[in-house]
Amino acid sequence: MDSKNAALKRIAVIPGDGIGKEVIPQAVKAIQATGAAVELTEFDWGSDRYLRDQTTVPPDGFAMLTRDFDAVLVGAFGDPRVKTNIHAKEILLGMRFKMDLYANVRPVRLLDAALCPLKGVEPKDVDFVVLRENTEGVYTDAGGVFKQGTSDEIATQEDINTRKGVERIIRYAFEYCQTHSKLDGSPRSKVLMSDKSNAMTHAGGLWQRVFKEVSAGYSAITAQHMYVDALCMQMVRDPRQFDVIVTNNMFGDIITDLAAGLQGGLGMAASGNIHPGKTSMFEPVHGSAPPIAGKNEANPFGAILTAAMLLRHLEFTKEADRIEAAVLEAVRQKKTTQDIGGSLGTREAGNWIANRLSS
Ligand code: NAD
Ligand code: IPM
Ligand code: MN
Repeated sequence: MDSKNAALKRIAVIPGDGIGKEVIPQAVKAIQATGAAVELTEFDWGSDRYLRDQTTVPPDGFAMLTRDFDAVLVGAFGDPRVKTNIHAKEILLGMRFKMDLYANVRPVRLLDAALCPLKGVEPKDVDFVVLRENTEGVYTDAGGVFKQGTSDEIATQEDINTRKGVERIIRYAFEYCQTHSKLDGSPRSKVLMSDKSNAMTHAGGLWQRVFKEVSAGYSAITAQHMYVDALCMQMVRDPRQFDVIVTNNMFGDIITDLAAGLQGGLGMAASGNIHPGKTSMFEPVHGSAPPIAGKNEANPFGAILTAAMLLRHLEFTKEADRIEAAVLEAVRQKKTTQDIGGSLGTREAGNWIANRLSS
């Protein structure tokens, strides 16, 4: 079977664990309500399956996704019953690494001033994107533990940075800046690389050299640098200054939770894991949120905005625009879950979006 070039785009759906199983059905309803020409196929990869039969990723799983699907929509992984978190590592990091999805694209947009914890900050002030390197860094889990359980125990966690890996994410950032405009239609114009090269000189040195080399090829774009600790402070003091931020895997993880705070919390943040030209994967930034799982409380908008990102990636531009407009309207009318000030449940907020899209 190879239907990847057919008019009907094929989307694999993996809700995963916890609130992933609640928010992804809302994202699926939104996709269906747009009438986009897609076929959705659900997979049960996650903690329940792992606890049942010890399968994390079925044999041929990643190759199957790449071969048979145009995109993958994912919820979240993480379950207190799986103490090692092995299934999350094998499924989620497995997709990112083995499908070589090197660009983790995490847009940071404030839909309504009421959602931002900062005083006097309006939607036009928070409109940037974090491009996180997604296939190396400390996430490769290289290293080991020696003399475990003794007073001489040693743990190492290597930070792997390849020239190829650093260069392709930095180049992606400049290309992204060149080809994407801000929500108000003005062009993007700045790429800021963030690292910790004052302390981590080997890896930081490589990032610095490559950033200088690549930026020289984009004279119309302003190249900037900020240490990641200072970046955290500036994000809270003055988010207006940011446009495109590029950074490594771990710093990107941390600053995008902080950035989610600017948008109204983790329930609002969307992301894509992209390799141009290859089957890419889309997931909300949040995790499985065990304390609220199963209570119909989780905010589905991060997942629904993620569905819009996925559709835009597959060139369903009108459908993506409509989903984003519906979420914006829901926020304005307070047709939302409690975390952002409304009184609806997960399903009811999802239904509101689906109804608006169908009408
Ligand atoms: P989390 O994102 O699950 O939750 C952090 C906080 O945000 C909690 O207070 C939670 O209630 C709240 N929250 C998250 N999503 C929300 C939503 N949609 N609506 C309302 N509130 C929301 O992060 P955590 O608590 O650090 O991790 C829980 C589990 O999820 C862990 O196993 C972790 O490893 C995993 N995790 C998975 C992913 C992923 O699969 N992409 C991402 C982050 C964390
Ligand atoms: C994320 C998550 C993951 C990460 C975890 C679950 C491994 O926090 O997608 O932001 O660190 O990348
Ligand atoms: Mn994270």
